[in-house]
Amino acid sequence: MSPPTDSFPAYLISNSPSGVSAAFTDLSDADLDPGEVTVRVQYTSVNFKDALAATGKGKIIRRFPCVGGIDAAGVVEASGDPRFKPGDGVVVHSHGFGVSHHGGYAARARVPADWVNHLPPGMSALEAVTLGVAGYTAALAVDLMELNGLAPDKGRILVNGATGGVASVSIDLLAQRGYQVVAVTGKPSEAQYLRSLGASEVIASADLPAGAKPLEPALWQGAVDSLGGAPLGALIRSMQREGVVASIGNAAGLDFSTSVMPFILRGVRLIGVNSDNEPAQREHVWKRLGTDLRPRHLARIARVLPWAQLPAAIDAVAAGQARGRTVIDLGAAG
Ligand SMILES: NC(=O)c1ccc[n+]([C@@H]2O[C@H](COP(=O)([O-])OP(=O)(O)OC[C@H]3O[C@@H](n4cnc5c(N)ncnc54)[C@H](OP(=O)(O)O)[C@@H]3O)[C@@H](O)[C@H]2O)c1
Repeated sequence: MSPPTDSFPAYLISNSPSGVSAAFTDLSDADLDPGEVTVRVQYTSVNFKDALAATGKGKIIRRFPCVGGIDAAGVVEASGDPRFKPGDGVVVHSHGFGVSHHGGYAARARVPADWVNHLPPGMSALEAVTLGVAGYTAALAVDLMELNGLAPDKGRILVNGATGGVASVSIDLLAQRGYQVVAVTGKPSEAQYLRSLGASEVIASADLPAGAKPLEPALWQGAVDSLGGAPLGALIRSMQREGVVASIGNAAGLDFSTSVMPFILRGVRLIGVNSDNEPAQREHVWKRLGTDLRPRHLARIARVLPWAQLPAAIDAVAAGQARGRTVIDLGAAG
């Protein structure tokens, strides 16, 4: 039987008694999940979470089978919501996208309108997906940190897991906003890349004092933490008075231990960052990404690969071999 005329390529994550697996397939519109907005996907990306999902290394997928891909950018094909019309350039991310609802690893996506944002003025779909959920989360972290007192003249900002997606964008947007950014990385050979994004100093994770005293020397007014685990515990103990730590990720682990002393003697603030936001917050953050938090080096941060290389890209991210943002161009697939 020939495939339906509306068929399009997708990368589907499935579960079976032998485990989680992912493969290219063809879907049709009837396979898409419900939603008000249908998008022709031009670009998607491979996040740490996508790599965990597609390889089964993390329990990410909540509904099998599921098209992977937690972010995408493209053009609206159809909309039942007055906020969007055919031809609009949009970015889609967060909530159930690529987790419990078919995601961005397909030439077409149908999603609730609240998961969609217009591209900021002057921003291309490629730039928007280079930001994607990683860039959104970086900007949200800075927005929340500034609400908690972060300011360029108060001291240095540490960004760990520095070559990662969230961290690369964080370095770029903090530096262009006038902050002094110190990049901490397990890949010191990438120092030149990190400096080119705006880091004023690069420290190898192995050289960062891990001290175990309740209070360590006060080094940082702010920190963007992609790691969690022991590095987060150490970080909290070395914050300045009124310092702010944004907890974003868990690349190094889930649990951490620290002391209450940084909180009660230095007024340190530990804030949680979750990108599953309501429309008003999403609009606010995307507006800032298009204006005062707009990064300057997205072309340097992005590694753009063709659709056919998606599985290899997922393996590279899962193995910790990727740098910055891994973007997939669906050009030939759409
Ligand atoms: N809160 C939210 O809403 C939200 C949104 C997006 C992402 N996240 C989370 O944020 C984290 C970063 O995401 P991402 O997409 O930027 O990931 P990524 O691109 O894979 O970057 C993570 C970075 O962490 C470092 N790293 C990796 N494994 C490590 C380990 N075992 N120990 C210490 N460092 C390690 C590496 O940087 P170096 O080699 O340079 O040190 C790596 O590049 C993830 O945990 C992700 O799930 C959360």
